[in-house]
Amino acid sequence: MTCLRRSLILFLVATALMTKAESVPLLSIDSLIRQMTIEEKVGQMTQVDLGVIAKGSICNLDEPRRLDSEKLRKAMEVYKIGSVLNVGCGSGTIPLTDWRLIIGQLQSENRLRSRLEIPILYGVDAIHGVNYTVGGTLFPQPIGQAATWNPTLVEKANEITAYETRASGIPWNFSPVLDIGRQPLWSRFFETYGEDVILSSSMARAAINGLQGSSLNDRYHVSACMKHFLGYSFPLSGHDRTPAWISPRELREYFLPTFKAAIESGARTVMINSGEINGTPVHADRSIVTELLRNELGFKGVAVTDWEDIYKLVDVHHVAANRRAAVKLAIDAGIDMSMTPNDFEFTELLISLVYSGEISEARIDTSVRRILQLKQDLGLFDQTVYPSSDYPEFGGETHSRWSYTVAAESITLLKNDQKVLPLNLTKEKVLVCGPAANSLNLLNGGWTHTWQGVDTRFNTPGKTTIYDALYAAAPKGHVLYAKGSSLDSVENLDECLKLAATVDKVIVCLGEQPCTEIPGNINDLSLPIAQVKLVQALLASGKPVILVCCFNRPRIIHSIAQESAGIVYAYLPGDEGGRAISDCITGKVNPSGRLPFTYPAATNALMHYDHKASEELDIDFSNHAYRPDFDFGSGLSYTTFSYSGATISKKSIAANDSIIIQVTIRNSGDCPGMEVVQVYYRDLVASITPPVKKLLTFQKIYLENGQEKKISFTIHPKDLSFINKELVRVTEPGEFELMIANQKIPFHVE
Ligand code: BGC
Repeated sequence: MTCLRRSLILFLVATALMTKAESVPLLSIDSLIRQMTIEEKVGQMTQVDLGVIAKGSICNLDEPRRLDSEKLRKAMEVYKIGSVLNVGCGSGTIPLTDWRLIIGQLQSENRLRSRLEIPILYGVDAIHGVNYTVGGTLFPQPIGQAATWNPTLVEKANEITAYETRASGIPWNFSPVLDIGRQPLWSRFFETYGEDVILSSSMARAAINGLQGSSLNDRYHVSACMKHFLGYSFPLSGHDRTPAWISPRELREYFLPTFKAAIESGARTVMINSGEINGTPVHADRSIVTELLRNELGFKGVAVTDWEDIYKLVDVHHVAANRRAAVKLAIDAGIDMSMTPNDFEFTELLISLVYSGEISEARIDTSVRRILQLKQDLGLFDQTVYPSSDYPEFGGETHSRWSYTVAAESITLLKNDQKVLPLNLTKEKVLVCGPAANSLNLLNGGWTHTWQGVDTRFNTPGKTTIYDALYAAAPKGHVLYAKGSSLDSVENLDECLKLAATVDKVIVCLGEQPCTEIPGNINDLSLPIAQVKLVQALLASGKPVILVCCFNRPRIIHSIAQESAGIVYAYLPGDEGGRAISDCITGKVNPSGRLPFTYPAATNALMHYDHKASEELDIDFSNHAYRPDFDFGSGLSYTTFSYSGATISKKSIAANDSIIIQVTIRNSGDCPGMEVVQVYYRDLVASITPPVKKLLTFQKIYLENGQEKKISFTIHPKDLSFINKELVRVTEPGEFELMIANQKIPFHVE
């Protein structure tokens, strides 16, 4: 053990009792930096893909994946790399024991080969659970997690994800996606927490707390990575990584709050938006990466680029004439680490820029300090892989029960005409059909065992599809299956119709090709015609039809929704989704999910619930143009809830004052259920056109049938604020209105 390592360990022991907020003083890090060469510093700022150091060729690695000692030598001794990510391009999920072997070997080789023994920081995309480790627990995708409106559950899902990520030897998760979901065409819509700033910010806080816990250095938590700063989710064309046009005011009003909430919750790293805003690629935009992120929001952690994004400043964005100029632009903008990720050109160029004086050594010291601090806070100088016996729950029953609970609370019942649901499978016979009926991949979506999530070879044995789960829940012969249609072509429709004639009800499970990023680009939100034809044919058979929707984004179902008796919106509910859907359909679970976005009725009717009044003007000049199929926040239950007695503690609030809102909710139906109490408000007159309504706060509650509860919310004037023309968050005095279900209360801000 070198002296340096020993003194660092002693230092760590001495500071072991410090909390997250009081991270280790910079003194020891600074002394380490003083000993580092320029090459060692730039190496810390370099992140390569596993493919660069594993046996085989990049994008076609040997199986099982193993490290290649010659490649390792080059990466560690020549380029002194500081970070590695993911599974190797084009590759799939890795067994837990192999992960531990790979990371353990990586760290020990690094100790042998690197002068200062600075540990490698490994990062992975664990988007809905540890999706790149065989047998990991897969939760609903974030859009489904948001539909629970239950931050406690989302925190738990992220805590389990952190546990299973660390079990794999990995201390850094490129999650959560905090881009706001206001462009439904975007291929990564399912990775967002939906369209609303308040709901998404609440989920952002829950995710950061779950992933990071109260200490990064406790073997069960990881560093989170807020993605993708900023404005990534709002491409004008709807296509991934294409230009966004967002004014500075809108940027702060809609896109910034989730990141602000995450930073306030202690998020340690951030990944930069691969696209451009208003003509400037964000990786080259100092006003976003430094002025807004660091100076305005006070972020102190590590900023990593997205995949190859420095090179893309030349190859895609054409704002740099060559890669050397691109590296200079990105470093000047404020990048700390480059996800290079397939070569070492970034490393060579940055070294040369520092030697030539075009980038100062002090500038790279700033980034290196942040990276080393993170490594230290994660405990990596001390121990990188913990004993497997520390993780007895990995992929086990307890974790899958949590995944089931999240899925069950996310399922959103959008339509239930004549109480077509719940089914009584002891009495009723059903036909289950459609592309998502018997597919685990369509329940999980992208980022599942592989990047795009389409490969069926890696699915976890024993997990149930919707059909499997319904079949298991019914007497023999009561649940029949015929596919009827793949995602985009009708298959054996005749067989499907023949079976439909023999049952009481038909369940059609609609789906979307698992995908993410550019491969997920579409030009049309319409549901593929084959699935529409399947539903139409079944509707024509006269049997009540129930749609189950497993979509990446709201695919247009308007024409078939009208005539279908029931609609169960399942998002991408993960590995336990089949059971959760079946239990909601059969009434074992009373659905309690609520839409975290506005469900459009037509492909170009992309409005949000918090639209402006002018958007409501219709062709006949009435104000009925806002006609989504289903509103933000909507979702039915098998019971009913009635609201009464909404009160407000004062009719007029002063600037530093607060008010208490109270309302009584009664379960007026005949079974227990969960309700999401949603409080909205309207600013009657404001200097920036106010939205017709805006979510103020919410709470999910459980009520037995007949039970009644009085709920209280405390509100401050700042909760009614918006960004004004000067880009300042203000609450303007004037008249407001509160809306809670059917209850409305006017009030005044002084
Ligand atoms: C995605 C990121 C992801 C990164 C590493 C990129 O293409 O945009 O969200 O974290 O790849 O896999």
